[in-house]
Amino acid sequence: MEISIHRKIFSLFFLLSFSPLDSKACHAVDKEALLQFKHKITSDPSQLLQSWASSSDCCTAWEGIACDSSGRVVNVSRSGLASGNDFILDTSMSGTLSPYLGNLSFLGLLDLSNLKELKGPIPPELGKLSHLTLLFLDTNKLTGSIPTSFRYLKKLKKLYLSDNYVSGVVPSSVIGSLKSLTELGLSGNQLSGSIPSTIGKLVLLTKLDLHGNYHTGSIPSGIGKLKKLMYLDLSENQITGSIPPSIGGLSELVLLYLNQNQMTGSIPSSISGLSSLQFCRISENKLTGSVPPSIGKLSNIQRLILENNKLTGKLPATIGHLITLTDIFFSNNRFTGKIPSSFGNLQNLQTLDLSRNQLSGQIPHQLAKLQRLQTFDLSFNPLGLGSIPSWFAKLKLFRLILAKTGIKGQLPSWLSSSSISTLDLSSNSLTGKLPPWIGNMTNLSFLNLSNNGFHSSIPAEFKNLSLLMDLDLHANKFTGPLGNVLSKNVQQPLGHYNSIDLSNNLFLGPIDEKFGERPAMVSIVSLILSHNPLGGSIPKSLGKLSELQVIELVGNGLLGGIPVELGDAKALTSIVLSQNKLSGAIPQSVLNLPELQEFDVSGNRLSGKIPPHKAMIPASGFMDNPGLCGAPLPPCKHF
Ligand SMILES: *[C@@H]1O[C@H](CO)[C@@H](O)[C@H](O)[C@H]1NC(C)=O
Ligand SMILES: *[C@@H]1O[C@H](CO)[C@@H](O)[C@H](O)[C@H]1NC(C)=O
Ligand SMILES: *[C@@H]1O[C@H](CO)[C@@H](O)[C@H](O)[C@H]1NC(C)=O
Ligand SMILES: *[C@@H]1O[C@H](CO)[C@@H](O)[C@H](O)[C@H]1NC(C)=O
Ligand SMILES: *[C@@H]1O[C@H](CO)[C@@H](O)[C@H](O)[C@H]1NC(C)=O
Ligand SMILES: *[C@@H]1O[C@H](CO)[C@@H](O)[C@H](O)[C@H]1NC(C)=O
Repeated sequence: MEISIHRKIFSLFFLLSFSPLDSKACHAVDKEALLQFKHKITSDPSQLLQSWASSSDCCTAWEGIACDSSGRVVNVSRSGLASGNDFILDTSMSGTLSPYLGNLSFLGLLDLSNLKELKGPIPPELGKLSHLTLLFLDTNKLTGSIPTSFRYLKKLKKLYLSDNYVSGVVPSSVIGSLKSLTELGLSGNQLSGSIPSTIGKLVLLTKLDLHGNYHTGSIPSGIGKLKKLMYLDLSENQITGSIPPSIGGLSELVLLYLNQNQMTGSIPSSISGLSSLQFCRISENKLTGSVPPSIGKLSNIQRLILENNKLTGKLPATIGHLITLTDIFFSNNRFTGKIPSSFGNLQNLQTLDLSRNQLSGQIPHQLAKLQRLQTFDLSFNPLGLGSIPSWFAKLKLFRLILAKTGIKGQLPSWLSSSSISTLDLSSNSLTGKLPPWIGNMTNLSFLNLSNNGFHSSIPAEFKNLSLLMDLDLHANKFTGPLGNVLSKNVQQPLGHYNSIDLSNNLFLGPIDEKFGERPAMVSIVSLILSHNPLGGSIPKSLGKLSELQVIELVGNGLLGGIPVELGDAKALTSIVLSQNKLSGAIPQSVLNLPELQEFDVSGNRLSGKIPPHKAMIPASGFMDNPGLCGAPLPPCKHF
């Protein structure tokens, strides 16, 4: 008797727990909660909820629902990014979140992320979901604040509310209570106030992402207690105060982003404790003081981005120990002294950007060992180079930027056999000719030789620069015709000009009548030819440049009228034709270009009534044209 009862109980237990056939049907309260959720969804274009019919069992027949054996819903997963076998399906859903979701008492996972169009507040009722471990509501349009009832979500491991319109402060009571939390993502919202100091209690956190909010105040020093933290992103906020020295305790930290804040003080020497750090970005702050030599202990660092701060002192030679470094961005600080020769050990370095500092002295020849270096930017430093060191020829650079570094003399001929794509030697004292071998630099896409003393014409070989897109030769003494610039080759689909600035030279006109039909020109955005003795007239063909936004032809001695056809270049925002000898009336089509913001034809011989126009153009833009009248100039007398 006793044995048979025992056996019956055993077999019942067996059936309940191991046979899916015996799983209970969906619990009525859970089903009602889900139907109420569906009821608040106003549009379901991807038919994510199509299978949710009141006539069927929500545990077995509804997509995105999983139940336990007693018919309680444990997972609701209808995220907007579903991955198929070979592709990712991007779906959406609009509506609001029903408070009934709070009745799914056994729910462990709620994933309604990436549905893009979920609006309204996060229902405080979600705080009742005491079994919830994963809550993903990111990438929607949710508003309101983080419910304080979230403090009851004691089992929550991952909370993502990123990329919504959630506002208000992050409740200190919530942060202090979610002791199981391993990942917290609140980035891309409108959260304000300071980061609660209770964050120090979340000792299981591996990932903390609060970037792109309006957080103020300083980083709580308790952050140093989060020993498991691997990913810390507090960038793009309004955080003040200094970097807490306790941060050095985060020995598991791989990524540290504090950029775009208002932080002051110096980089703590405890930073050496970040022994796992690979990506460090603390740029765009107001950090002062010198970089601690202990930075040389970051033995896994790959990217070190300190640009746009107020850092001073010498560059620590210890940085040369960091052979894992691939990128150094130290631009726009106040570093002084020489570039340490130890930098020559950085065998994996791809980017060395030390521009806009106060560095001086010789560039150590040890840097010739940097065979992986692609971008080398030393511009705007008082280096007094004299000439570009000849060992530069050994580097395999894509981008060489040495603006205002005191280079004199002629362009070094080793450049002819380099594969450089960006070359900026502007604001130096280069002189002589633009050599014919410039045409051998066929990988050039950006060339800036502005603010130098070049005096020659543009050689025919220049046409061979079939990848060139941006050309800035302004403020030199270049002369001769523009032909070789305008009719250069293009290597489809690249190599069409984006911008040309030839202003303040001695180029001779007239401007080619076929200008706007040259293949190199078809997608030009900015054309600046001001202050050259060009003469001739403005070509009608400019009207064919459908992407042209800026045209500046100041002080070129141009004759004739403003072509009506210019009104066909619909992208124009800025037309500056002042100080020429232009005559005739201003075409209505030009003055009424839809995007026009700036228009200046002052100092010409234009006449007639200024056509009515929508753009706000000051009178100064029309001044010194004796025959011109009408608003914004005084009214015309004889019309
Ligand atoms: C619910 O989702 C979690 C997390 O994705 C998963 O591990 C679990 O197996 C799911 N439960 C059921 C019953 O499908
Ligand atoms: C479920 O939630 C709603 C709204 O939060 C509530 O009105 C309702 O009484 C709850 N209970 C049941 C059993 O549906
Ligand atoms: C241009 O760049 C390509 C790809 O990096 C390279 O293979 C080629 O040799 C370069 N050409 C010249 C003329 O340097
Ligand atoms: C070329 O360099 C000068 C500074 O030397 C800068 O003002 C100018 O904007 C640069 N041109 C382009 C196209 O970036
Ligand atoms: C430039 O290229 C031409 C043709 O390939 C070659 O004959 C000439 O020697 C090169 N000039 C320089 C300075 O490298
Ligand atoms: C470069 O340009 C010159 C003159 O236009 C031409 O004769 C020569 O063949 C070109 N060289 C190469 C390598 O394309």
